[in-house]
Amino acid sequence: MDNNRVYIFDTTLRDGEQVPGCQLNTIEKVEVAKVLEQLGVDVIEAGFPISSPGDFKSVVEISKAVTWPTICALTRAVEKDIDVAAESLKYAKHGRIHTGIGTSPYHIQYKLNSNPDEILARAVAAVKYAKKYVEDVEFYAEDAGRSDNVYLARVIEAVIKAGATVVNIPDTTGYCLPSEFGEKIKFLIDNVPNIHKAIISTHCHNDLGMATANSIAGVMNGARQVEVTINGIGERAGNTALEEVVMILRSHKELNLYTNVNSKNIYKTSRLISSLMNMPVQPNKAIVGRNAFSHSSGIHQDGVLKNRENYEIIDPVEVGISESSIVLTARSGRAALKHRLDLLGITLEKEKLDEVYEEFLLLADKKKDIKEDDLLMLVGEKVKSEHRIKLDFLQVVTGKNMVPMATIRLDIAGEKFTATESGNGPVDAAIKAVKCIIHRKVTLQEFLIQAINKGSDDIGKVHMQVEYDENIYNGFGANTDIITASVEAFIDAINKIGNAEIAAAK
Ligand code: KIV
Ligand code: ZN
Repeated sequence: MDNNRVYIFDTTLRDGEQVPGCQLNTIEKVEVAKVLEQLGVDVIEAGFPISSPGDFKSVVEISKAVTWPTICALTRAVEKDIDVAAESLKYAKHGRIHTGIGTSPYHIQYKLNSNPDEILARAVAAVKYAKKYVEDVEFYAEDAGRSDNVYLARVIEAVIKAGATVVNIPDTTGYCLPSEFGEKIKFLIDNVPNIHKAIISTHCHNDLGMATANSIAGVMNGARQVEVTINGIGERAGNTALEEVVMILRSHKELNLYTNVNSKNIYKTSRLISSLMNMPVQPNKAIVGRNAFSHSSGIHQDGVLKNRENYEIIDPVEVGISESSIVLTARSGRAALKHRLDLLGITLEKEKLDEVYEEFLLLADKKKDIKEDDLLMLVGEKVKSEHRIKLDFLQVVTGKNMVPMATIRLDIAGEKFTATESGNGPVDAAIKAVKCIIHRKVTLQEFLIQAINKGSDDIGKVHMQVEYDENIYNGFGANTDIITASVEAFIDAINKIGNAEIAAAK
């Protein structure tokens, strides 16, 4: 094994996807897996197959669609979980079962109601059982961050003896300090006699904002696999961000460590995940936030123009962001618009580009500066025009001391349907009118409105989650009018329910 290579284990589709409202369907997951393959990750954790039929199916389909990365399926230390994971991996060219159990006093006593010896025995049994199916078995010691190092070393030695090829040391609660986490890895290297037979993996959560620092401390002390997600998404405050680890290792050449990731694909992968999961990236997010390479103060701009490295430690081109920032205004031409869309990985045919350009000019008249999110919204509108149900007309009458009323006209597969309803607010009235047309019991579960930039001329982005027939569907809408954005988000979600399900009644 090349001791300078750090393996990238991407868990965007498993730990990342556990975020409420970020669930993807199988087609979307396969699309993400293919993009991760192009990015150059070594392992794709594709799901937790026993958890749902959808997760099982996704692992199967990803296994078929992806060629060279290892496909990993998560299990508890339970035989049934391992059977199902093995079945889901049957088409994988390289399959890995990721099994494990909690090793901290909290998990042993309060979660598992057990004792250290019994947990050790269950860990060993799970690894041996998984070995019946696959050669590549990764063991996770859940909450290793708060586990006693001496006990952890005993467990790790035993699971390696049982056949574990990778041993994962998760800081499940994001509690450790970087120095403490680094020492934990070093302790295992110094005290587990057979440690050279397995790769040590880090899996750090970001509850105290230390996930990346802890992962790097782990690597500096001998870990050679890092578990990450794109944009750092994941449970609670998230997981270690792939883009941060990769760019730290590239920037700090003195560490003499490298990954297989093609950093030029980082930005477009980040954008894809953000838009598919309806999860905006915070503007100041390292590497992929929209402000990460933008200089606003005069002194910084002057410094960067004299020499980019005065204020930039990474060349944005290395992560797939063009160095030259072209500000789009109402005076920009098609070529500038096309250039910015290309940077976002969006290629439009001439006719579509012309359509987007016309809408871009209308928006540019309302807003001073057109940002990437605005462009994504404009392009999203084009995609929406292919939906079966479209918003054709919306009028709301609202104000103080009056009952809000909304009139909606929907275009359903070419036929027009109109309804008028009242509600306790204009959005409520409009949504009731849509429901009245589609005649289905769709319940709104979550409703989030965000401004993209600032100012009263801003575009409002709306994320909605609806429930229909015990399934959850997510919708997105964006418009300078937040009521229109809300109705569009609702209609977007309804379109996902499936064309066959929604029949319009005249
Ligand atoms: O955070 C964690 O401990 C996990 C394990 C299941 C690997 O996600
Ligand atoms: Zn985790």
